Amino acid sequence: MIVISNNEGKSGIPATASMLAQGKPGLDAVEAGIRLVEDDEEVRTVGRGGWPNLLGEVELDASVMDGTSLRTGAVGGLQGFRHPVSVAREVLERLPHELLIGAGAARFAAEIGAEQCDLLADHSRAAWQRWFDAEVSEADRGNWPDVPLTRYCHNAVDPEIGKDTTVFIALDANRNIVSGTSTSGWGWKYPGRLGDSPVIGAGSYADSRYGACACTGAGEMTIRAGTARAVVLYMKMGMSVERAVEEAVNDMRALKGGLINRVTIHAIDNRGNHRVVAVNGLPGNHYWFWTDGMQAPEARPAELIQISERAPQAKKIAMTVYTA
Ligand code: GLY
Repeated sequence: MIVISNNEGKSGIPATASMLAQGKPGLDAVEAGIRLVEDDEEVRTVGRGGWPNLLGEVELDASVMDGTSLRTGAVGGLQGFRHPVSVAREVLERLPHELLIGAGAARFAAEIGAEQCDLLADHSRAAWQRWFDAEVSEADRGNWPDVPLTRYCHNAVDPEIGKDTTVFIALDANRNIVSGTSTSGWGWKYPGRLGDSPVIGAGSYADSRYGACACTGAGEMTIRAGTARAVVLYMKMGMSVERAVEEAVNDMRALKGGLINRVTIHAIDNRGNHRVVAVNGLPGNHYWFWTDGMQAPEARPAELIQISERAPQAKKIAMTVYTA
């Protein structure tokens, strides 16, 4: 048994580890852990308390994958519900579909009785208002929100502002491998922007025959590189988890243009080995790790690999201003 989560998984991974130790199914354990992170308002890019989009609305993305059936469930741009990971789980359980977005996802969530919630916490509302007051022109304020948002998207906040998405990958007592993700995505994103968290194959992938991978950071990059699926496919082709992650990092080196930012790749294989690499990461980047025999999950440093000279610092100023 093994479970790995990123730094933001801190409030959820003890529950996941405990459930795995009791022999509970990996998917239940991962969903339970992610729900706790979604409830933790100190985590500023997951669930209630997450950063809003350019319009000041919190849009949540989440996914789960069962690596034994290769079934997935995901929601994108879901507004007004406390636990997107559980709505994603119900997509897997109840529908012949894998991904629901926007109004359809909200309709489904209401239909299954998912808990409703005002996702915009006071600190997020205040930060958004500071951004609005500082960045939006007087003319646009008068017509808001019926203004072109594209120019403000370039003033959007670095995805690292609130640290990150949460991702969990686990191997349970019955050798099922699963993954789960949840995020409010990039703060001040263009409305409707989906990151990699609900995109199976980009932000997460699990296959009980080989392993699992889940990513945090700039989802734009892992969508382009198909990172999570690639890591598992490289393992299928015979690479160790170490080599598979290395190869996925090489794929990122090939990305030209667009957003080049930070991505952390978390991967496990079906024998309980793992590797976590922070691409363009900063010292201090760590993840949580638990395997059977350990009393409690422990924090470990991610390996840092630099692929870009221009590690994106451009929006740091915005981060400082709007989140103070
Ligand atoms: N990795 C999360 C996102 O890009 O939204």
